Amino acid sequence: MRVSDDRYTRDRERLDLALRLIHHEARTFTIRQWTGLSDDRIRKLYRSYCMDQAARRVARHRGKSPRQCAFFFKNAELNFQASQLASLFVVCGLLRGSDLELESLYRVGSLESGTLLCQAYEAYLEFHAPASISFEHAWFLLTALSRRDELGVARCNACGGVRLRDLLAKRRLACGTCESPDFNAAAEAIEEGKRIPARILEQLEPSTSMGGARPKATLEDGNRLWIGKFPEKADRCNLQRIEYATIELARRCGIAACNARIEPIGGRDVLMVERFDRAPTDGGYLRFGFVSGLTLLDCDEDYLDRERWSYPLLADELRRWSEKPDEDRIELFRRIVFNAAVTNNDDHPRNHAVRRTARGWRLTPAYDLVPAPMVSLERRDLAMAIGTYGRTASVYNLLSQCERFRLTVEAARREINKIVAIVRAWRDHFQAHSVSTKDTDYIASAFLPECFFFEKPPEG
Ligand SMILES: Nc1ncnc2c1ncn2[C@@H]1O[C@H](COP(=O)(O)OP(=O)(O)O)[C@@H](O)[C@H]1O
Ligand SMILES: [Mg+2]
Repeated sequence: MRVSDDRYTRDRERLDLALRLIHHEARTFTIRQWTGLSDDRIRKLYRSYCMDQAARRVARHRGKSPRQCAFFFKNAELNFQASQLASLFVVCGLLRGSDLELESLYRVGSLESGTLLCQAYEAYLEFHAPASISFEHAWFLLTALSRRDELGVARCNACGGVRLRDLLAKRRLACGTCESPDFNAAAEAIEEGKRIPARILEQLEPSTSMGGARPKATLEDGNRLWIGKFPEKADRCNLQRIEYATIELARRCGIAACNARIEPIGGRDVLMVERFDRAPTDGGYLRFGFVSGLTLLDCDEDYLDRERWSYPLLADELRRWSEKPDEDRIELFRRIVFNAAVTNNDDHPRNHAVRRTARGWRLTPAYDLVPAPMVSLERRDLAMAIGTYGRTASVYNLLSQCERFRLTVEAARREINKIVAIVRAWRDHFQAHSVSTKDTDYIASAFLPECFFFEKPPEG
């Protein structure tokens, strides 16, 4: 962030921060704490900028701010979200973690710290809308973590994830999710055809993970916005470099992949992907409309809706949504072939989207491309149905409904052959993108397994 001593710039920044806090429905007391503005000025700001926008009226809250740490332990989902928020505080530089002892780095009343707090909360909102944790609760979480008397963090010894720890409670080794009796309940629910929350489904079937769990932050660089994807302590390989190399491999295959680069931050590789839902303008950033595959397919993340997780259905929706339906459908086909060729089986509906540009809706650049090493050579599944034979990632299935993507069988074959020829050289490509030999060996089984080339379904 630019630091300036110019009084007027500081004043403007103060007002900007106050408005940002008003939009997050912070209480007047909190806004005063962070900006130093008087209650009267805050109320005037609210009246001038927020009250007359009838369509999106911002709520104001009165009364005491939250002060019960028990709120974050009410249920496993809240606990999970609060743990993520704690990670975002570290990523944004509000807290410093050394061996999971947290130390505060912010200063109440500093505009810089206030802005970082908004950034952390906005990153949280990106992944959890509607949010279960209000801004006031987020601010309370930050103070409670830095006090270190009631709340701390620890690693779950079952899943390795960062979890919130109640320092006054009996010592627990696993996080709420891992300890929860939900797993048994979920197994029964599947048998009975009931709905299961995505969080539990994720743990039961890792290949359908909804992602979003890796620490991320929006970063500004020049006049561009980037999402920084950070490593986690428990990572067994350099996932950022692997994802970066895969994005570039997709680009080589003719796929419109998002702009990406690796940036060393604090001695660690961070994957930076340029935000495609924002564009710089004179006064800031223009926000494009963004609709994820879940909405396009009119489905949910849970188990019962998975029958609508389908590429041919997504192609049908592109016919309705896209400004260039033919181009976008062929592009979608290329992405399926690529996902199958590199076993990117985390290709659930949230990892596809359209955005609205000046000319209309178009498929977004491809993102979140990560090869998954697997043992099986006989059959691989993607997360979404590909054709007549369900989710099976084999040539016969890729060709089975290619006309839904506006391709004849011959044209579809040409697309497949082109992509296969490029993916065959993946090792050289990964080496050129500085993926270590150890990591390359670790993911090798993801690329072009035997079953990819099958021309017909196995007998029986
Ligand atoms: N370049 C981008 N621009 C804008 N939004 C993005 C971009 N990349 C990802 N997203 C959004 O952020 C979400 C999480 O990013 P993703 O790369 O899928 O992370 P994860 O590996 O945690 O799933 C995506 O589902 C998408 O909505
Ligand atoms: Mg994702």
